[in-house]
Amino acid sequence: MQVKINRGMLELVEGDITRQDTEAIVNAANEQLRVGGGVDGAINRAGGPKIQEEARKIGYCPTGQAVITTGGDLKATNVIHTVGPIYKNGLAGEPELLASCYRECLKLASARGIKSLAFPSISTGVYGYPLGKAAQVALGAVKAFMEEHPEIELVRFVLFGQQAFEAYAAVLQELFPV
Ligand code: APR
Repeated sequence: MQVKINRGMLELVEGDITRQDTEAIVNAANEQLRVGGGVDGAINRAGGPKIQEEARKIGYCPTGQAVITTGGDLKATNVIHTVGPIYKNGLAGEPELLASCYRECLKLASARGIKSLAFPSISTGVYGYPLGKAAQVALGAVKAFMEEHPEIELVRFVLFGQQAFEAYAAVLQELFPV
């Protein structure tokens, strides 16, 4: 599923982010940048120890911000690590922090001349953000950024499982009615 925004493409696929051939993939990390489970565990396993070596040197990333490392053995040259909010009740600044994750990743990509990147559904696993709500924030933030930044050629959301894909597809259809 794809929509054109500005000169770029916003795409939804169901799959595994570690296999993507975009220039960068995004990791849903924690503030300590220590390898966890979920997509973080999968990326570090597939990419090998170089990713964690660089992350360890960086040491810390506040919630809503992003840092960049090598992609190690991955097809992607870089991994952009961002820290999503832990969902409490939706009234503790979670939507703003989640939107900030997407924006900061895209800003970092743009600053590094990275034109294509793949995102997982940040915060919707261990951090408990409801999928539908997260999809609204994620797609809204990426749409807004791409409208202002034609240098970003491809943003691909790689959704893990049918339920996640369908939640994002429903929101994309609301944002871009045919
Ligand atoms: N490809 C794409 N998406 C994946 C993959 C994968 N290989 N594996 C898991 N996911 C999906 C999950 O299904 C979920 O929808 O990524 C989404 C985010 O889930 P988590 O990885 O649990 O991330 P998050 O909720 O942001 O929690 C971050 O978990 O692993 C730890 O170190 C990490 O402490 C941090 C916390």
